[in-house]
Amino acid sequence: MFAGPLLRSRTDPSWVAVALADLPALFSDHLHCERKAAQSALSLVRSYPERTALVEAVARLAHEETSHVVQVAQLAAATGRPPYPDVGDEYAAALRALVRKHEPQRLLDQLLVFALIEARSAERLGLLAGALAGETAALYAALAAAEVRHSEVFLEQAAAVAGEAAARARAAELAEAEARVLAALPVRPRIH
Ligand SMILES: [Fe+2]
Ligand SMILES: [Fe+2]
Repeated sequence: MFAGPLLRSRTDPSWVAVALADLPALFSDHLHCERKAAQSALSLVRSYPERTALVEAVARLAHEETSHVVQVAQLAAATGRPPYPDVGDEYAAALRALVRKHEPQRLLDQLLVFALIEARSAERLGLLAGALAGETAALYAALAAAEVRHSEVFLEQAAAVAGEAAARARAAELAEAEARVLAALPVRPRIH
């Protein structure tokens, strides 16, 4: 299912250099992204406790995201500068605004938005892996692979909620929107 890439755009080629020019800012943002990924996954447990398969899948995913928080916190600490506070994320906020209000569309849209955020994160962590060196590059490659899997987990759950054809159709709409949201944001030393 969902053969082919989910994302409808590639990251601006200038982004990698901008990101690498301010590693404390990049690692701070990445730290908060991993934390929010864990919190978002657990928020689905709060909202849909009766969906046993969903709960199991997203709880495991949250566990992995929490381990990513540990890894990125260590990376941030190694820069010698304390991580910045979370300054908010216009990218995620713009995508969340696309989530429809009524069920079951609300759950479907949340799952697809999370799948898109994971896919975009995977793309960008992979770009960083290719531009960094040594252990940090290896860590980013491993994180990118994990986020690819997470995107697939959310797509599987979306198909389970809405059926594959409906999930695929809505994923295409939201992927177009994601590309527009990203294109409207400045290129900056952040994951999104
Ligand atoms: Fe992660
Ligand atoms: Fe993830």
